Amino acid sequence: PLPVFETVAALRDQAGAWHGQGERIVLVPTMGALHEGHCALVAHARTLGERVVASIFVNPTQFGPTEDFSRYPRTIEADLAALAQAGADAAYLPSPETMYPPGFSSRIEPGGPSEGLCGEVRPGHFSGVATVVTKLINQSRADIALFGEKDFQQLQVIRRVTRDLDLPVAIAGMPTIREPDGLALSSRNRYLSEAERSIAPRLHAVLAETAQQLADGRAAAPLLADGIAALNAAGFGPVQYLELRDSETLAPVAGVERPARLLTAAYLGTTRLIDNVAVLPR
Ligand code: PAJ
Repeated sequence: PLPVFETVAALRDQAGAWHGQGERIVLVPTMGALHEGHCALVAHARTLGERVVASIFVNPTQFGPTEDFSRYPRTIEADLAALAQAGADAAYLPSPETMYPPGFSSRIEPGGPSEGLCGEVRPGHFSGVATVVTKLINQSRADIALFGEKDFQQLQVIRRVTRDLDLPVAIAGMPTIREPDGLALSSRNRYLSEAERSIAPRLHAVLAETAQQLADGRAAAPLLADGIAALNAAGFGPVQYLELRDSETLAPVAGVERPARLLTAAYLGTTRLIDNVAVLPR
């Protein structure tokens, strides 16, 4: 059976033993409600180092007051079975008290890539993410931490924070795992009604069509306006953003001279979906 650690001390003991054998530890942080995208991360993590630790912690500090923290899906038994199946060496399930004991009062405030996009529509979100990920990396003594490009801004924020704070960890990314119709796998897809589920793949379709035209060298502003109109016409709304950014710094760009990223967040009914694609200069 999959070893499960619930305290920092127990996890650090195991990590120390693995390091003593010269083994590298790859951390895959998650909030549970695991799907094939998470399992693909664990499988890829296996190729990056000798030991894979997957954490499951629904982090309250990255949810806004009106967001879905309390109704976020919790499927722990199925998650542990999925992690064992995907080849994890251990699961780390810290309690809220372990992560945030009484008196806890420090936070990381990321800048740079956290500005705009989700950083603007979810104030405090990336501070919560950066703080919890830094704690998970330190608690697990991870040599490598792996994240999905599904949350591309999160990945670039974590790269920036770990560099800025000299954390001794390498950050790795993995492409988004999608349904055959293009919809990015997400724990939140289970909130979609049947009718919404049939509209949802348009999010990626519009990204892909817009990215194609941007790569042809056309000006971004009118294409982005057309893309938002197409999403609204398909039944999304409100579209929180559809923006072209530099793929590394996430600074706004007007065209595609360097590798860029096209990112979007849109509501479909009461469910908020995000997605993004690469846009490479020809
Ligand atoms: P969560 O949404 O559970 O995602 C955990 C990891 O799985 C993230 O790195 C995310 O990018 C990746 N992921 C989710 N769907 C994916 C898909 N379709 N394809 C590839 N990767 C995918 O992201 C978080 O949790 C939290 O913010 C966390 C980093 C754990 C901090 O609390």
